[in-house]
Order: sequence, then C-alpha cells, then structure tokens
Amino acid sequence: MIFCVAIDGPAAAGKGTVARAVAAHFGFAHLDSGLLYRVVGKKVIEGADAIVAARALQPEDLAADGLRTAPVAQAASKVAAIPEVRDAFLEFQRQFARRDGGAVIDGRDIASVICPDAEAKLFVTASPHVRAQRRLEELSQRFEGLTFEKVLSDVIARDKADSERETSPLVQVPDAVVIDTSDMAIADAVNAAIAVVSDRLR
Ligand code: C5P
Repeated sequence: MIFCVAIDGPAAAGKGTVARAVAAHFGFAHLDSGLLYRVVGKKVIEGADAIVAARALQPEDLAADGLRTAPVAQAASKVAAIPEVRDAFLEFQRQFARRDGGAVIDGRDIASVICPDAEAKLFVTASPHVRAQRRLEELSQRFEGLTFEKVLSDVIARDKADSERETSPLVQVPDAVVIDTSDMAIADAVNAAIAVVSDRLR
C-alpha cells in the first residue's frame, strides 16, 4: 500500500510528536526530515562544507548524538536555505514517501515540494509563545542557563528564516488540515491527526 502523510509546520509546534504517534498508530514508517538538515548543520559547525556533507549523508547519520541542540537547529536552518543541499535530499525523501506500507514525513516542505500528492496533509502549528515554552521545557532538562526570552527569540528567528527563504520555504498548502496546538493537549492533537488520516484511508 502506498500512502503518504505529509506533516509540515514551524519549529516546536508538536509535529514530531504527532508524526511519531500517527506512524505508530497506523504501522507506517516515519521520517523526521529536519534531521537531514540537522546532520548537515552539525557537520558545518565541525568545519565541513554543507553541500559536500549533504551529498555524503548516510541514513545511519540520522541517529547521531547531539543533533537536538539550539546551535545545531540554527545551523540546520542556514544550510536548509542552500538549494544544492535540498536537492541532495529530494530523491531520498520522495522514495521514502512512496515506500510500500505507508509513510509519515514531517518537515517544512513535505506537502509543498516533496510529496504534493500526499494522501493526507497536515499543518501543525502553535503560537510562538507556546512553542518557545515547550522548547524551553524540553531543552532545559539537558542544558542549563536557557531563558524563555532566548528560546523565544530563537523560535522567531527560525520561523522568519524558514518562511522567507527562496528555496522551499515553510508554507501551508491550501489543502492541508490545520491543527493549532496552542490550546490543545498533545494527546488531543494526536487524536485529531489520526482522525484525518483514518478519514483519508477510507
Ligand atoms: O524540524 P527541525 O526543527 O528539526 O528542523 C531543523 C531545520 O531544518 C528547520 O529550521 C528548517 O530550516 C530545516 N528543515 C527544512 N525542511 C524540512 C525540515 C527541516 O528546511 N523539510
């Protein structure tokens, strides 16, 4: 069975949690496409060339440690604006979307560029304040000295960079179902997403 669930949205809106839960519920494979850009961002911090690193990326690199830090997220957002970096990941993601057994991919350009024919398209979002608060709670377990103001300004800067870049910016496609998680428990967001996918599967 070929069935792709495309989940897009800004940083820290809960789309990763929703994507994992939807994949587990339906037994679909899951790809967090942000990890592709995070691997390259981390390699650039370590001194590599972004395009060379993107072209050399291996699937096992996505399991590397240290990808979920604020500096790596910012570096990822920078390399994600380079067309050759995005091109290096295009075919891999398109094949993933069309794998047998169903796929869930979350990112910024999944419904717009990677899989415009996705069987289900979701746009998971939340207000910048709510997203910054969630990111702060997640990161402060691992990093000391973070403040709400710093996390909020990082979230806003990343939204701006991701939405205003020329190549594959973050967009909400007209036929995506919007799930605004600002005032929603994550379990309710997951249930809403599962309901959309169940409906499309019928
Ligand atoms: O989703 P995550 O925060 O892991 O993504 C890190 C960065 O990778 C984003 O800020 C964005 O610039 C980039 N990205 C992208 N396209 C995707 C997924 C992520 O440009 N499909």
